[in-house]
Amino acid sequence: MTTQQNNSDTILTHAGRMGDDHFGAVNTPVYRASTILYPNLAALEARDARYTYGRRGTPTSESLEDALTLLEGGARTMLCPSGLNAIALAILSVCSHGDHLLMTDNCYGPTRSFCDRLLKRMGVETTYYDPLIGAGIAKLMQPNTKAVFCESPGSLTFEVQDVPAIAAVAHGHGASVMIDNTWATPLFFRPLDHGVDLSIHAATKYVGGHADVMLGYCAPWACAFASIRKAPPRLPAGCNRIRQLRACFIRRLNPIPVTPYGSVISRAPPASSALN
Ligand SMILES: Cc1ncc(COP(=O)(O)O)c(C=O)c1O
Repeated sequence: MTTQQNNSDTILTHAGRMGDDHFGAVNTPVYRASTILYPNLAALEARDARYTYGRRGTPTSESLEDALTLLEGGARTMLCPSGLNAIALAILSVCSHGDHLLMTDNCYGPTRSFCDRLLKRMGVETTYYDPLIGAGIAKLMQPNTKAVFCESPGSLTFEVQDVPAIAAVAHGHGASVMIDNTWATPLFFRPLDHGVDLSIHAATKYVGGHADVMLGYCAPWACAFASIRKAPPRLPAGCNRIRQLRACFIRRLNPIPVTPYGSVISRAPPASSALN
């Protein structure tokens, strides 16, 4: 087991705990709250309350965000209601009318629909690039290119991109680099260590692991945090996802193959005689 794996196993097991605030509970209990009361007007006006409104976060969502931040090695994590919502949030945090986006051609299908429909209507132009383009992405950069979006491995065709080469070129042109890291997960690839500004995840898949959760997140590097914070409102998760995150540790110990679409692929199918 490598040091990196040891570190992430420790994070999966221990990170995001708030036991001191919750009578020693191992995982932060579920808070279901919208309005938060202030003790007095001075406290409201001080604007330094840790929790201010359910959509902006509760101890429950904060615990998971803290654990994911450690796994990704980012500055912060923002939970979103779904992976696609996280993708939209990330792109909208940097692209406006008149801007240009470079999108990998092997992106998740609904990401492509988002670009071809909503972004187009907003006046953002998308160019799809060969996922194996590497440093060759330089020839596609335009003066108005605001972001380069990667997905590695990419959906269904699984090309592994030369992310550091793409990031170096994009940064040289002043563009942000973001990646849909759903297939790799931060256990197998930490994009922020390789020049990416913002790591996006459909936590509906590997993190959820049991096909009973819709969840996404954006984990920005410090420099990308300011813009994503001002992006359209997100919704934090309302129930206890950290329990499912911890299960990633157990799933990794398990020799049964896993995919982002479910923790258990299955054992060998029963012999045909057994079906009769
Ligand atoms: C690679 C990838 N990205 C994003 C998504 C979108 O996630 P969600 O279904 O949570 O919106 C998916 C969902 O299948 C996916 O496989």
